[in-house]
Amino acid sequence: MQNSPIGLMDSGVGGLTVLKEVQRLLPTEDTVFLGDQARLPYGPRTVAEVTTFTRQIAHFLQREAHIKMLVIACNTATAAALDTMQNELDIPVVGVIAPGARAATQVTRNHRIGVIATTGTIKSDQYRQTILARDNRNTVISLACQDLVTLVEANDLTSEHAQQVVADDLTPLLDQDIDTLIMGCTHFPLLRPLIQQVMGDQVTLVDPGTATANMVTSLLDYWNLANPKVGATARYYTTGDVVNFNKLADHWLDQTPIRAIHLPLSELTTTLEVNNK
Ligand code: DGL
Repeated sequence: MQNSPIGLMDSGVGGLTVLKEVQRLLPTEDTVFLGDQARLPYGPRTVAEVTTFTRQIAHFLQREAHIKMLVIACNTATAAALDTMQNELDIPVVGVIAPGARAATQVTRNHRIGVIATTGTIKSDQYRQTILARDNRNTVISLACQDLVTLVEANDLTSEHAQQVVADDLTPLLDQDIDTLIMGCTHFPLLRPLIQQVMGDQVTLVDPGTATANMVTSLLDYWNLANPKVGATARYYTTGDVVNFNKLADHWLDQTPIRAIHLPLSELTTTLEVNNK
């Protein structure tokens, strides 16, 4: 089991922000990433749909890559399906919301925390509930910013249009006196410079991916699952367009050219049927 890869999943390229941290902290761990771009965005979908998709991906990664741990590198899927997956799978399953919420409570000084995320994550109210459960002195101001996912998937990270969309979407947070803002969608750290520019330097941006990668490190040690070898391999799947995925992944991961494998959706749905038999 120690030699098996860590599996990470997202609706698209956003989960690469978590993967990058995992790869940085764990240079001996093999990774396999799946971006479900054919069914993106997850944000506006129902809990039942997102749970089904997450289950399909988890089963595929177990069957195909024999993953030793699953990181749900997607806030929307974490909100919808973390509990279910932890109950159903026989490997450790990690989500991004609890580590992100914890990190924010440790950073804030005035106890006013903003959360930006997809419509699904905001609707679930999980960030607010988790933050208050950690420290109920906090006030949480939540804002759905689904448009930002579209910008990232279009690789539109710096244009005037992107600046305008980020500025417009974040306007409701500007008079809220928050000192901490959780980027509660794994796509958003790719827009960090624009988000920081709009919010100002006095607001600390929290990337739950960083805290999640730290948690993965501790869990590997706790379960004695760390891979003792030298070096690491990485495999990438997308259900969407490979060229588009590779372009974004190359830009973000800053590695040797990424060559993602295209995964037809039929492979995911078949996996579930096979496993259910
Ligand atoms: N990256 C995802 C998240 O963290 C979801 C984006 C989407 O598909 O709407 O929530």
